[in-house]
Amino acid sequence: MKMDVLLGLQWGDEGKGKIVDVLAPEYEIVARFQGGPNAGHTLEFDGIKHVLHQIPSGIFRSQILNIIGNGVVLDPIILKKEIDGLGKFSIDYMKNLVISKKATIIIPTHKLLDAAYEQSKGDKKIGSTLKGIGPTYQDKIGRSALRVGDILSPEFQEKYTALVDKHKTILSFYNYPLDQLAEMETQFFDAIQFFQTLNLIDSEYEVNDALNENKRILAEGAQGSLLDVDFGSYPFVTSSSTMTAGACTGLGVSPSKIGEVFGIFKAYCTRVGSGPFPTELFDAVGDDMRKEGNEFGSTTGRPRRCGWLDLPALRYSIMINGVTQLFMMKADVLNIFDEIKVCTHYELPSGEKIDRLSFEITDTEVKPVYKTLRGWNCSLEDVRSYDDFPAELKEYVSYLEDELKVPIKLVSVGPDRVQTIMK
Ligand code: GDP
Ligand code: IMO
Ligand code: MG
Repeated sequence: MKMDVLLGLQWGDEGKGKIVDVLAPEYEIVARFQGGPNAGHTLEFDGIKHVLHQIPSGIFRSQILNIIGNGVVLDPIILKKEIDGLGKFSIDYMKNLVISKKATIIIPTHKLLDAAYEQSKGDKKIGSTLKGIGPTYQDKIGRSALRVGDILSPEFQEKYTALVDKHKTILSFYNYPLDQLAEMETQFFDAIQFFQTLNLIDSEYEVNDALNENKRILAEGAQGSLLDVDFGSYPFVTSSSTMTAGACTGLGVSPSKIGEVFGIFKAYCTRVGSGPFPTELFDAVGDDMRKEGNEFGSTTGRPRRCGWLDLPALRYSIMINGVTQLFMMKADVLNIFDEIKVCTHYELPSGEKIDRLSFEITDTEVKPVYKTLRGWNCSLEDVRSYDDFPAELKEYVSYLEDELKVPIKLVSVGPDRVQTIMK
């Protein structure tokens, strides 16, 4: 059996949580492979709305084993809060949730460092979620991080203190105050005690044994391809590998065992945080998208920047991920528009038109070149199948399929589980 991967093709918040929850009944395992509490994955069903940050989005399906893989950076305080928050849903997290001992731990000073680094960047700040993601991955790659398995060791406290001392030296260089640290540490060690009681495993065996037993696994991406540390708009990116390849390293699965790659995109674009966004709208159209799409961050509550769909960027994400099926989200948000624009090219300051994301593009002011399509201008509330779609929405879908050369197999027309149309 091969492992399917689901990931966001834009700048995050494409609706990954919703779709993992929708697809979960077809799988036995759902696994997160990168990122951490910078993610906010929203699920809606039976009138309930729930946002998950670190726990995989299969957690509401009682037959599914949810794995937090080695590639994830995990905040114990947030994990405890998340598990407490699941209390009212009578979820058996001891049965349905396992965590890799090789996942990396976010400690309180990682969050202070995140804030210190951002502050020092002034108006060049990344717009980090301030969850400590960058500093934690820095320590992982720098070979000084703490891992989940370490919390079971009698030397944990010693290792922790050594790392904190190093962080304090850096924080003093940045003149960053430590006033909050004592309170954060109290919460941290309280959460660690709880963490020690969870199911901590060598998840690479769990995953590969499951594949050998023909069990179906869905790897759930966080963030989006355009935030990938290698291929995103660096330095305005996150610190992990958000692409299909990241699912291999983040779970310990061979590339030869990757099956379907589901690429999720919004019918338009959004971005939170700083960095280039060629199709960003600063006018009433952008405001209407934000209002209709309720485009405010699931993790930080920040308003999301909004703009039309960007084909060169989408093609790039499809290429680096080997996407086999596209899922288009939030089609209903475009219901209000008479006309819908899609960026087909970028125009450089020299007048030259390009449709590739070069190294230089991050620092170049490009102008989007648009094709205009007809809007459907009606509600999609009663739509139950692809045949019910208004002609203009069918036109939009088939135009995108022609341009992207990958079939759009699913169109989402609302936040609820049931507002999902398979094509
Ligand atoms: P994720 O990070 O990719 O899981 O996405 P988020 O949960 O951060 O953001 C997606 C938002 O859009 C959430 O509030 C979802 O409830 C909502 N959503 C998902 N699909 C649809 C859709 O088809 N239509 C509308 N209107 N909202 C959607
Ligand atoms: P999900 O999984 C949208 C953005 C931040 C910032 C940049 C770096 O919900 O799609 P970080 O905290 O990772 O150092 O921030 O990345 N970012 C996201 N934007 N959705 C996310 O996750 C994001 N996770 C990080 O806004 O611009
Ligand atoms: Mg999100």
